Amino acid sequence: MSSRQLVLLKIIVFISCLLPLAWLMYALLLDQLGANPIEVIIRRIGEWGLQLLLITLCMTPLRDVVQQPWPIQIRRMLGLFAFFYVCLHFVSYLWLEQFFDWPEIVRDIIKRPFITVGMLAVLGLLPLAFTSTRKAQRRLGKRWKRLHQLVYPVSVFAVVHFFWLVKADLLKPAIYSLCLLALLGYRIYKHRLTRSG
Ligand code: HEM
Repeated sequence: MSSRQLVLLKIIVFISCLLPLAWLMYALLLDQLGANPIEVIIRRIGEWGLQLLLITLCMTPLRDVVQQPWPIQIRRMLGLFAFFYVCLHFVSYLWLEQFFDWPEIVRDIIKRPFITVGMLAVLGLLPLAFTSTRKAQRRLGKRWKRLHQLVYPVSVFAVVHFFWLVKADLLKPAIYSLCLLALLGYRIYKHRLTRSG
């Protein structure tokens, strides 16, 4: 892929990642989010965060399939967009659901296990986002790769968070779990293959 094509791909990915947010704003302005818009906003943004997290994890296997560097070259942008949506999800919860009532928020984090696990996922994402720059990558050297393996427990926490909050229909969290299992399984398989070879 030429550098011009890569720039074009990055622009397409950037715009595509913003489309869900544009849709949400549009639906909000037209009052089309149903009877409980706050729930829809929190849930939709959370789901996009999870989807982007999983899409980011798809980039390494995709690179191995296409044998080209471009999936890795757009991985950071996808990861940062996942972080962006997760932050937005968290802020929507703090603002729209809890009205920044800090004692109540602390109580909620301790009391509701799915919130506790979600919180762990957000905390795990923070060092990844702050060390996502090329400068941090150079400075941390081999430790950078180690640190960024935090994305695996973070993704597990995110899926558990979803499983824990649904009461009846487990289909969606089950699908996301299967996707994550396949993505983690691929990495374990590859690791074993390189060690034995
Ligand atoms: C990596 C971090 C996180 C991810 C990927 C994530 C993802 C999700 C997903 C996929 C849903 C369900 C969406 C649906 O039902 O379609 C959800 C719901 C929710 N999340 Fe998160 N979440 C994260 C962190 C958090 C945190 C830190 C909080 C609050 C402290 C939180 C609060 C909530 C709430 C209140 C709901 C809606 C529950 C309900 O309507 O019953 N999430 N989240």
